[in-house]
Amino acid sequence: SGGAKKTPLSLAFESVRGSRTDAVVVPAGYTAQVLVPWGTPLHDQASAWHDGLAMTPKRQAESVGMHHDGMHGFALESSSASRRFVLALNNEYIDQQALWAPQGGPTNAEEGARPADESRTEINAHGVTLVEVVRSADGHWSHVADSPYNRRFTSASDMQLSGPVAGSDYVRTPFSPEGVLCRGTNNNCGNGYTPWGTYLACEENWPNVFVNTGTRFRDDARIGIPTVRGRYGWETSAGDASEREGEFARFDITPRGASALDDYRNEARTFGYQVEIDPYSGERAVKRTALGRFRHEGCWLGKLVPGKPVVFYSGHDARNEYVYKFVSDAAWAPADANRPGEAYDRLAIGAKYLDEGTLYAARFEADGRGEWLPLTPQARTRDGRCLHEALGLAADDLAGIIVNTCDAADLMGATPMDRPEWASVDPASGEVYLTLTNNSKRTGDGSTATYTNDGGSLDEPGVGFATAPVNAANPRAENGAGHIIRWRERDDVAAFDWEVFVFGAAADDADNLSGLTEANQFASPDGLWFDDRGEGEGILWIQTDNGYEGVAEHTNDQVLAVVPGVLGAGEDAPSVVNTGNQQGLQRFAVGPNGAEVTGIFATPDRTALFINIQHPGNWPASQDATEPASGSVRPRAATVVIQKRDGGPIGV
Ligand code: FEO
Ligand code: CA
Ligand code: CA
Ligand code: CA
Repeated sequence: SGGAKKTPLSLAFESVRGSRTDAVVVPAGYTAQVLVPWGTPLHDQASAWHDGLAMTPKRQAESVGMHHDGMHGFALESSSASRRFVLALNNEYIDQQALWAPQGGPTNAEEGARPADESRTEINAHGVTLVEVVRSADGHWSHVADSPYNRRFTSASDMQLSGPVAGSDYVRTPFSPEGVLCRGTNNNCGNGYTPWGTYLACEENWPNVFVNTGTRFRDDARIGIPTVRGRYGWETSAGDASEREGEFARFDITPRGASALDDYRNEARTFGYQVEIDPYSGERAVKRTALGRFRHEGCWLGKLVPGKPVVFYSGHDARNEYVYKFVSDAAWAPADANRPGEAYDRLAIGAKYLDEGTLYAARFEADGRGEWLPLTPQARTRDGRCLHEALGLAADDLAGIIVNTCDAADLMGATPMDRPEWASVDPASGEVYLTLTNNSKRTGDGSTATYTNDGGSLDEPGVGFATAPVNAANPRAENGAGHIIRWRERDDVAAFDWEVFVFGAAADDADNLSGLTEANQFASPDGLWFDDRGEGEGILWIQTDNGYEGVAEHTNDQVLAVVPGVLGAGEDAPSVVNTGNQQGLQRFAVGPNGAEVTGIFATPDRTALFINIQHPGNWPASQDATEPASGSVRPRAATVVIQKRDGGPIGV
């Protein structure tokens, strides 16, 4: 437009105050409505929700799952992309008290056999929900009951295994002796989406639903599979005559028989992957094993360049675990980009980019440089051995390296991090942001220990994992408030530059290293989204999952926003701690008591921001997310749609 200089992007809302109520708080001029809470029927014939509704396996299978987490919208037509789409959302885990409220709580939650129908219902409350949503002319969003796109994936749905582990000895089971099929996905936390129009649901705390009471395998010890009882005790339920092969027994991976086809020793090796779902078709979900096996927080697309490999980043959310990237063998062909709403084989395109490639783990050097360490059989470990030899595997056993991803990364010398949660990429610069939520096992005294995991819990991820000493990228001992880092790739696929973007803290902390105030103090950053607004500018949205007293006494979990500058560039390595970037960080929204705020995206026109409220204490009271309950309600995780009263773009 005639050389007129564009006004730089800036935030235009008043920072909301910290809040501790049973309601969502948004800035003046904004609304927040509840959409598709747990238990919303997906089909006309399914039971309508009411607070006293007794959940059954069938009802739960026909309704929105529990504990919403990562999510994304998939347009049905380009012309209506901001008014109508398929919402794909993860149902990470369950609140048994809320699920079984009419019956007075779960049966035998801690010991004894769980009733089969309770286990089936809980299994069906996990996984992924697909639901069509529409915006009416007055700006109200609702779901479309009986849409052909409405669909559930649960911890029992049949799924395909693909990539290097598929068909290997590691995943042969009584259910699939060829090792190509598996059952269920669970604890899907953060998410991802591909440029070819598929959704990625990431398996995070899946080890907890299994148990091994016998001899431990290298991989289940490392990843933290419980040794006494699974988190929900599903393995204790008795099937009946119609029981599918090992419906419940499969959650107990104790080796009992003569071979892997006589027991369920390999069942947990069908979990820990990135799960690709085509939201437009009725096809089975596919587990893409090439992207590694660990507690995947999410899966985030790197800068997309025609003719170059497709890159995805993923963090392993446990204390002192690693950051990974996957680089496809295939070069990106723009002809593979999504054609919204059209029916064709997107999962075949997924196979092209996600089944063959190289997985790397990150090493952060103290000078601001970084190195990507390839997890391939012939890679050289820190002490000069071949990686396959160091792991005791055959020279061509890539499947074995993937099953033991964490051990492989140890041997290569990856940097133990403060619980990597979400990442997000500025699509213009390619800079990657990553939240490091907190780490109580980070020591200042230089002590390291070996991994002696005896089974983590969901509340204490990685409990029992080793301590690790501070390092440049994780510089605070007992890091309670967490921080955010960012990096930029170099032309060499194995090199990058990094810096700390901002440190979480309470405003009155002695180590408030980023100078936060009452208006933006935060801790335990988790959800993250770089919201590209064009011309190289965007808003970085940050969500929290706070367990840090100094901040929690002032505010519930929240959403913050900042327009970030670029990483210090140039010939010299940048300073590893950037102290200017948090300027302009503002609090945009606060969640209700007891909840974390997670999952985030906006409509393409940026007039509606979607977030999720997970594990609320006493919410929602009504469709208005900002209205507190007058008494007590049966709590329900839900999506919240935030819009401006004037219909304009969010945040600016
Ligand atoms: Fe499910 Fe790492 O949060
Ligand atoms: Ca998370
Ligand atoms: Ca978290
Ligand atoms: Ca969570």
